[in-house]
Amino acid sequence: MNRNLALEFVRVTEMAAIASARMMGRGDEKAADKAAVDAMRSMLDSVDCNATVVIGEGERDEAPMLFIGEKVGSGSGPDLEIAVDPLEGTTICAKGGFNSISVMAIGEKGNLMHAPDTYMQKIAVGPESKGLIDIKKTPTENLKRIAEAKKCRIQDLTAVVLDRPRHAELIEELRATGCRIQLIGDGDVSAAIATAMPDTGIDVLFGIGGAPEGVIAAAALRCLGGDFQGIFKPRNDEEIARATEMGIEDINSVFTIDELASGNVMFVSTGVTDGSMLEGVKFKSWGATTHSLVMRSESGTIRNIVAQHHFDRKPRY
Ligand code: FBP
Repeated sequence: MNRNLALEFVRVTEMAAIASARMMGRGDEKAADKAAVDAMRSMLDSVDCNATVVIGEGERDEAPMLFIGEKVGSGSGPDLEIAVDPLEGTTICAKGGFNSISVMAIGEKGNLMHAPDTYMQKIAVGPESKGLIDIKKTPTENLKRIAEAKKCRIQDLTAVVLDRPRHAELIEELRATGCRIQLIGDGDVSAAIATAMPDTGIDVLFGIGGAPEGVIAAAALRCLGGDFQGIFKPRNDEEIARATEMGIEDINSVFTIDELASGNVMFVSTGVTDGSMLEGVKFKSWGATTHSLVMRSESGTIRNIVAQHHFDRKPRY
């Protein structure tokens, strides 16, 4: 994959972030998501590639745009697969909270797992704990291994968990270990990435969240040298059937980071609202500023891009 493509794709998340940031705090999740989807879709066609959406806004019949299987890009250039979440954290944005982002993972054909829209049990860690986690073991055992790798006490580790009733037992177990816990309302993609970023203070993500978000997080952690494992958690037979149709042979197996996002992958993300790793969109008299992260697994380069967008010179915005 041409390395410059990553810098083309960041324009796409920048535009989606600006569009959805305009809807911040309005209490209208659908409108915020639609603004991001519309902007992402229109900007994608300016990127020279022949891309297929493998993770998107849902199936063709339920999503007018960025549906799974949709072809995007200018049509000339490399064959790519993309996983998109135009607005990750729709509720966060609708409430004006922390950590909503616009995000995309890009891979060559066959690099990104085609995950059905179901749930996934996840564990995510940064580079120091790579190769040491095992989702089949207890959270306590995983914390012991992470603490050993980081040469600290379990009590000094911070675990992030989505604040959901389904996690009651997990939270109880984590509390019993003495580790610090950050319960988040939404947004487990940024939480997974935070485990691999210096200075976030986050060491591990545990719990069940969206499966599509799991693939996107795995792609990001491939670039960051972190680790991720996931087990699909379908809610019904229909979701199991859909997974089989998408090529998942054993729904109960553990998927490693390399199985979820293999080969050379790229990851781009732009902050919508302020967050632990990305600043949100700030509107100015002349336009807006955005803060994005651009990463490639091949080089491991992590670029923080702060951009100024002058609306009088960018009619699309
Ligand atoms: P949306 O942006 O689609 O609302 O997803 C937010 C999110 O919190 C994800 O980060 C997470 O993986 C998923 O929802 C958890 O699902 P649920 O809210 O059903 O527990």
